[in-house]
Amino acid sequence: MHSIDYNKLPKHIAIIMDGNGRWATKKMLPRVMGHKAGLEALRGIVKACSDIGIKVLTVYAFSTENWNRPSDEVSFLMKLLVDYMRKETAELHKNNVRIKILGDLSPMPDMTGKEINDALKLTQNNNGLQFNIALNYGGRAEIIKACKALLSEALSKNISIDAIEDTMFEKHLYTEGDIDPDLIIRTSGEQRLSNFLLWQSAYSEFIFPEKLWPDFGKEDLLNAIYQYQSRDRRFGALK
Ligand code: IPE
Ligand code: IPE
Ligand code: MG
Repeated sequence: MHSIDYNKLPKHIAIIMDGNGRWATKKMLPRVMGHKAGLEALRGIVKACSDIGIKVLTVYAFSTENWNRPSDEVSFLMKLLVDYMRKETAELHKNNVRIKILGDLSPMPDMTGKEINDALKLTQNNNGLQFNIALNYGGRAEIIKACKALLSEALSKNISIDAIEDTMFEKHLYTEGDIDPDLIIRTSGEQRLSNFLLWQSAYSEFIFPEKLWPDFGKEDLLNAIYQYQSRDRRFGALK
């Protein structure tokens, strides 16, 4: 284990928590047990990020495409999520964590929506780790949402098309006000974005650990940060 440089931490870490189903299948368990174990892993990683001093953690919990899974898996996942919120919010609040949701909550079951809104309200003034949960999130849907909002703003305020700039667009993304992710981690060996943070990942560094999400712990996080710190970020410029 190498030691990381605490003066060069990524400010924003985003994680595609993948491999829950495979984790369960390998143990001859139903897939949903993998999601349960995945939420345990999440608990540890949120705590670790908060302790290390990461400013923003974004996790991909449910994509706009995940509705295409069998309905019993979807409803179990939603139940687990409500459970997670119910059990974790007090602890997160105690640790000064601010919870934010990225995604469209309107199609969520009423109970899920209520639990989430309570958590958002309780933690809204905290200034420790910002914990973004991407829920019913899709990068393309987010971009279309922002296009529509920007277009209607331009029409109502008489802004000319030529005057449109990045910053005006970003104001309408779910990540409004957040810095872009410095580091994106996807577990389970898959190497794709699956519609995650398409706009925001323009200059992110990517790390793809083989471990399945339920097995991913603080050591693995520190290891990813260590690898990140050896990368040479140029942003299109020369050194
Ligand atoms: C990630 O694990 C969690 C969600 C997508 C909700 P998966 O359920 O995708 O696990 P695998 O990829 O099938 O192993
Ligand atoms: C991405 O994982 C979504 C989440 C982790 C929530 P998926 O397992 O849904 O992605 P694909 O289908 O392998 O691309
Ligand atoms: Mg998967």
